[in-house]
Amino acid sequence: MSAATPRNIVISSANGLRACSKAMDMLRSGADTLDAVIAGVNIIELDPKDHSVGYGGLPNEEGVVELDACVMHGPTRRCGSVASIRNIKTPSLVAKAVMEQTDHIMIVGDGALKFAREMGFEETSLLTDESRIAWLVWKRSLRDPAGHNNWGPGLDSPPAKAPIAELKQFFPEATEDTLAWAWSVAVHPPKGTINCLALNTRGEMSGTTTTSGLAWKIAGRVGDSPLIGAGCYVDQDVGAAGSTGRGEENIRIAGGHTIVENMRHGMPPKEACLDALKRVARNFDSDRNRLAAIDINFYALRRDGEHAGATLWNSRRPDGTWSKTYSVNDGGESRLEPCVYLYEKKA
Ligand code: GLY
Repeated sequence: MSAATPRNIVISSANGLRACSKAMDMLRSGADTLDAVIAGVNIIELDPKDHSVGYGGLPNEEGVVELDACVMHGPTRRCGSVASIRNIKTPSLVAKAVMEQTDHIMIVGDGALKFAREMGFEETSLLTDESRIAWLVWKRSLRDPAGHNNWGPGLDSPPAKAPIAELKQFFPEATEDTLAWAWSVAVHPPKGTINCLALNTRGEMSGTTTTSGLAWKIAGRVGDSPLIGAGCYVDQDVGAAGSTGRGEENIRIAGGHTIVENMRHGMPPKEACLDALKRVARNFDSDRNRLAAIDINFYALRRDGEHAGATLWNSRRPDGTWSKTYSVNDGGESRLEPCVYLYEKKA
């Protein structure tokens, strides 16, 4: 690992361009790295148009939005986390309060909501009109034998076309675009999530991951995002790592910790992430047919500023750009960089 002078740098998942810009502004003004990444992801948590994080996130199978988040602060080596928390738009800030105000690391469910109330967080419904329609469309899709069902053995294939005309009868107020989107998320439940990692000029590092988790999940299902060592891990002697995508696969390989350990043992960020992806693939005997349904991404930032985003499957768009990218800000405008990948999906 090179002993380069540390510099301000922020990386995030592809939905984190604005998060990176905000965090970079804060780093430049001397803010703490954890405050910077949290302020960055707060933008996405509060954005009703991002249906994978915070307010407007897609709900569980009962129509209730349940959020998961964790934070890890490199300089103090402390961390905090909340899971299955309802009614609070910014779970990353509640995770920070767990870290700062308690002797615990993780608080879940009703306890997390009660704790947030006591800390002065405002309670509000997290379901938007769009996410409510998507949930109702998902409920209808269950009548379709090809619709997604949590109690089935795997992910089902959607019908070739969304039944827009039929849905329009039941949701006359919704636009066709909303219904087409709602059908696609009904039959392909998204995992979304944002992970954001930062390094500053003092060599300090922090990270956070926040999500509404798997759409239509069984109430109480917790993914990788709030799990320290899976959704996020920081050891500023080495680097930081995080993940988005299907949390179940990340939990099985403790991806965040695995990647940081890989870097500790000399792997550059790209190889460290690809090794984690190989461990995911190994759990399916590298059977590409079974792996085809899995979307999982890793992000790594080494203490010298070298970084990588990696994905199980990437594909080239007709214009030659890669479909899977991650966000980077190293001092200028935030930009998307292509993820390295284990497998290429033909368009
Ligand atoms: N990675 C987000 C989740 O699976 O919940």
